[in-house]
Amino acid sequence: MRGISIVLSFLILQSLVVSTSQIAPDFNFFYWVNYWPGAICDSQKGCCPPTKGNTASDFVIHGLWPQFINGTWPAFCDQTNLFDISKVSDLISRMEKKWTEWGVWACPSNETKLWEHEWNKHGTCVQSIFDQHSYFLTNLKFKHKLNLLNILKQKGIKPNDGFYGLNEIKNAIKCAIGFVPGIECNEDVKGNKQLFQFYICLDKYAKEFVECPYVPDKSCASTIKFPKFPETDSIGESLNVMSSVLAT
Ligand SMILES: *[C@@H]1O[C@H](CO)[C@@H](O)[C@H](O)[C@H]1NC(C)=O
Ligand SMILES: *[C@@H]1O[C@H](CO)[C@@H](O)[C@H](O)[C@H]1NC(C)=O
Repeated sequence: MRGISIVLSFLILQSLVVSTSQIAPDFNFFYWVNYWPGAICDSQKGCCPPTKGNTASDFVIHGLWPQFINGTWPAFCDQTNLFDISKVSDLISRMEKKWTEWGVWACPSNETKLWEHEWNKHGTCVQSIFDQHSYFLTNLKFKHKLNLLNILKQKGIKPNDGFYGLNEIKNAIKCAIGFVPGIECNEDVKGNKQLFQFYICLDKYAKEFVECPYVPDKSCASTIKFPKFPETDSIGESLNVMSSVLAT
């Protein structure tokens, strides 16, 4: 009898484990990535300022990317549920302000193309927790929750073409969210390493900030430039971006 009940409890346990694993995400965490338009415009490739939305001096959403703990990631997981703008029509006006395209993905700038790329590449891999609407809404919610530029400014780190310690920048964000972010740099025309993107790590349900399980080396120096935000009258002459080089 005891043997049977042990077997039974084992079977029950096993079926619980199986049923939870069917709804649990099959990736480990998220990068929520934001980029600094100034670092695109003063790079050799130039930029393509947004045609819609505003050009408020701020970091811009790049996307929410599922990751595996070993440093790889799933991509383009579902060809049958590609981006459909009608599913996010109520979010468009907010997306046009916070999720603009400066030539990271499309040139001339095309916001829709960026959103389409983000959903098709990354969003289709997170359908265990998000549909198209909740994927985009979650990005906007974090944007509302976390003002990266203000956090830096409060620590005296400003977009003024000045140079700041990489650790100083990391610590400023750590003070605000409790965890060190990943930072990706690129180069200005003179070859100076500069702040390009923040990688903020979120748990696999994209609810909370977490310690980054894996932070790739993103080619910064110990001191990096924080470029000015592009002024609207100086960006008319933007060069074409080889978008595929930067796009992720
Ligand atoms: C990384 O982890 C994923 C998920 O477990 C796995 O599918 C993939 O093969 C792993 N890649 C490497 C290079 O270990
Ligand atoms: C922008 O990209 C979308 C999606 O790829 C496309 O349908 C649209 O025609 C593009 N708009 C322009 C002005 O190129």
